[in-house]
Amino acid sequence: MKITVIGTGYVGLVSGTCFAEMGHSVTCIDVDTKKIEKLKEGIIPIFEPGLEAMVKRNFKNKTLSFSTKLSEHLEGCDIAFIAVGTPMGDDGSADLKYVLQVAKEIGQHMTTPLIVVDKSTVPVGTADKVRATIKEALEERNVDVNFQVVSNPEFLKEGDAINDFMKPDRVVVGADDEETTEKMRALYSTFFRSGSARLITMDVRSAEMTKYVANAMLATKISFMNEVANICELVGADVNDVRIGIGSDNRIGYSFIYPGSGYGGSCFPKDVKALHRTAAEHGYEANLVAAVEAVNDKQKLVIAKKVVKRFGEDLTGKTFAIWGLAFKPDTDDMREAPAIYVIKELVSRGAKIRAYDPKAMHEAQEFYLKGIEAVTYCNSKYETLVDADAMILLTDWKEFRIPDFEELKTQLKQPVIFDGRNQYNDKMMKKNGFEYFQIGKKS
Ligand code: UGA
Repeated sequence: MKITVIGTGYVGLVSGTCFAEMGHSVTCIDVDTKKIEKLKEGIIPIFEPGLEAMVKRNFKNKTLSFSTKLSEHLEGCDIAFIAVGTPMGDDGSADLKYVLQVAKEIGQHMTTPLIVVDKSTVPVGTADKVRATIKEALEERNVDVNFQVVSNPEFLKEGDAINDFMKPDRVVVGADDEETTEKMRALYSTFFRSGSARLITMDVRSAEMTKYVANAMLATKISFMNEVANICELVGADVNDVRIGIGSDNRIGYSFIYPGSGYGGSCFPKDVKALHRTAAEHGYEANLVAAVEAVNDKQKLVIAKKVVKRFGEDLTGKTFAIWGLAFKPDTDDMREAPAIYVIKELVSRGAKIRAYDPKAMHEAQEFYLKGIEAVTYCNSKYETLVDADAMILLTDWKEFRIPDFEELKTQLKQPVIFDGRNQYNDKMMKKNGFEYFQIGKKS
């Protein structure tokens, strides 16, 4: 099939590249000329394991190309994916300006029948707006070209995006007629055998809703466990044991019940807010959804509170080694990362920070912690420890899992560790002489 993917962000670039890998002829479009030029040279704007090699291979094979001109790639195109950003507006709703701009451009230039797919995470009802925008642009040109609008939300995770896309748990397709559904089925048939139950078809609105509900449900699991962790500390229970105890019930399951310093990233925070907003727009107060967000906001500062409890309200003269800045491992993404909140809180109390992250140092320096002089960036996890009063772990990168504890002891002024991701064994840490603080267990 001939495919156009508009928007070369996370979702667009990964989807386009994976469709190309499956033999489709794909053009990825972006208005950012520099980004497109770099992509043609094989320079990828994001860090995502396996993506660079796949882009280069398909570009070389000519199954994947890049362009800034959407108008030149609609003729003869079977499916156009809209994968542009939907930033969060001030009121928590998803801002659709980029999605609708693309829809307008499609209507202004399409000449042959087309399936237009919303791949971006968009609120319920967006497909109707996309349809109306395309129709209006076609009417202005006084032409009638057949098109359908489909919702096909993406469920990939940063850091494991290629795997998620190539071997999906499920693909959700929302279309309003059988013929379009069949065409989408044919597109995805390369990813799994036809007739697979993993291709789930439904109407457009239900597909749009599915995306928000999936993310909000996962965020709910995390916030629930974080709340449980805080209660565990108060009653003298160990959340790590409680987690295993409840996860063994397969109605609950083990995944996404790890307590920590709260969820971050570009998706959960934005989508939870947007679901709350959508409900409110329809006159419904989604209390549980609001609580998920409120618990998460508080959770991001739990580790900072523990530091204050141990070292006092005034942290002047204290230095903390921070391990991990990204919102999760295997990404350089710092959007809504707990590290931003913890570091700002400690710095506001006079502390100095020595930080290290395997991938997100540039993001921190250039954007999220830009201009904060109290932060020193180090070249390795051990370098952060020099003259530090304690180590604070905020991202569960693999390289932090089994560090040289003797080195930690030697370098730190005192052997104090705050673990925002419960990476270490409490008993072992204490036996080795560490003062060890974690989430959900009294120290
Ligand atoms: C999330 C979803 O998992 C994807 O299915 C979805 O496609 C994506 O959003 C999206 O909407 O685009 P992502 O934001 O990349 O993916 O990251 P996750 O791996 O889901 O982690 C989100 C956050 O939850 C991280 O901060 C992580 O540390 C935290 N988390 C996760 C926990 O605190 N506890 C857990 O048990 C699991």
